[in-house]
Amino acid sequence: MNEEQRIASQQVNQPSTSNTKTEKDYSKYFERVITAPSLKEAKKRGKEEVKYHKDFAIPQEFKGMGEGRKFFIRTYGCQMNEHDSEVMAGIFMELGYDPTDKIEEADAVLLNTCAIRENAENKVFGELGYLMKYKRKNPEMLIGVCGCMSQEESVVNKILTTYQHVDMVFGTHNIHRLPHILKEAYMSKEMVVDVWSKEGDVLENLPKKRNGSIKAWVNIMYGCDKFCTYCIVPYTRGKERSRRPDEIIQEIRELAAHGYQEIMLLGQNVNAYGKDFTDINYRLGDLMDELRKIDIPRIRFTTSHPRDFDDHLIEVLAKGGNLVEHIHLPVQSGSNDVLKIMARKYTREHFFDLVRKIKEAIPNVALTTDIIVGYPNETEEQFQETIDLYREVGFESAFTYIYSPREGTPAAKMVDNVPQEVKKERLHRLNAVVEELSAEALKKYKDAEVEVLVEGTSKKRDDMLAGYTRRNKLVNFAGEKELIGHIVKVKVTDAKAYSLRGEFVEVVKRHEVEV
Ligand code: 5AD
Ligand code: SF4
Repeated sequence: MNEEQRIASQQVNQPSTSNTKTEKDYSKYFERVITAPSLKEAKKRGKEEVKYHKDFAIPQEFKGMGEGRKFFIRTYGCQMNEHDSEVMAGIFMELGYDPTDKIEEADAVLLNTCAIRENAENKVFGELGYLMKYKRKNPEMLIGVCGCMSQEESVVNKILTTYQHVDMVFGTHNIHRLPHILKEAYMSKEMVVDVWSKEGDVLENLPKKRNGSIKAWVNIMYGCDKFCTYCIVPYTRGKERSRRPDEIIQEIRELAAHGYQEIMLLGQNVNAYGKDFTDINYRLGDLMDELRKIDIPRIRFTTSHPRDFDDHLIEVLAKGGNLVEHIHLPVQSGSNDVLKIMARKYTREHFFDLVRKIKEAIPNVALTTDIIVGYPNETEEQFQETIDLYREVGFESAFTYIYSPREGTPAAKMVDNVPQEVKKERLHRLNAVVEELSAEALKKYKDAEVEVLVEGTSKKRDDMLAGYTRRNKLVNFAGEKELIGHIVKVKVTDAKAYSLRGEFVEVVKRHEVEV
């Protein structure tokens, strides 16, 4: 099937009857729209090979479409979404649009959405209601919903029925179609729905308007095949597809040449990198071993799955250099029973073993994690096992969440006997432990000298600079604004609850990277 045929079969545009938006009976309309997106389709994992395209270009007919127009993108959720927004901003700018940070000035507004938990979705619906006000003032304003929520059929149905001021809905697999979707939306009075249930190919050289000039996100893979029972991501982001190593290396070399100081490699499950290659045996450890030879001060990656974290990767990370001593390793729960129901496919013993190996190889590693409390039927004992594991590993920080049922996932069908109040109380108790250990980890820095990549001024005080250490500790210190973008040595004077305070010592010369 070629691209046009594929689009013809998957793109669903609302029929152009002028009264569709005011019709009460949507049944006929749903019949068409419901075919895309479909969680059932999104769940399927086929053997068909991923195709790589290097020849992406915006067709001439769209160029200039944005002359005299402005765009605004609001991003919810993870760094993958942030990076997708950079790509969409890049496309807008190639079309001639200018960016604006004022919604009221925008001709096109996009909400790049997150589906991971219910409260993330509620925020978007709240914002959509709010956007109605702007649309009334400026009926020409195009409003679009994209990102993970658009991949959910229930969300698309809700937008069709309740948020008819939305002009465009498109998903995570076809952001490169933005010019076509915009054109369609300008020409049609009706909502344009263009969501592909199945993942697309891997497209290289999409335009990007990066958010900063110090740190950059680089995708190394897309999608997830793990299907943890609570998680919507494998449905909204499709099957695992890795970018080719040479493309990644080339992108990072270019970023280094442009003066970027830090790279964050992105993937839903970066440890599965390369599993899908059929012609080469090349995994994340191999990639990191190549990347450490690039002359760029820092390389991080997110997010890891303990199951695929192999010995070769640990061995390579232990070589240090530009590979930093911070690993985010989501454990989710410390109870074997809960891990099993979550389909995480490892035990707490396996996790401890992995942590032991990592600490042996990288003694000064900072480990952080993600934890879900209040999984269906989680007992107090099981919750305690999570607390015990957290303490025993000695995590230095964590993102903690109350379980949120996601329609279409196996966990959402489970009967749950844990009252919401109990879940909240558990989260509270867990957070107290997280704070305690974070503060303890920070205290150890008193009087030490650390390397800080200065990212800008402190959020709270404009006269202070702020940045992160290699182990991802936030440091604030007084210094000249010229230091922004440099790695500097700071002497720590004080450890606060969530950050360090220090005094500027000197600029660190770009260190030689081990080859
Ligand atoms: N409910 C609560 N937290 C979730 N996460 C993923 N799905 C859910 C859910 N349904 C959390 C996991 C994951 C992080 C990105 O979000 O901890 O690691
Ligand atoms: Fe979701 Fe991460 Fe599990 Fe994949 S590995 S299903 S993204 S929690």
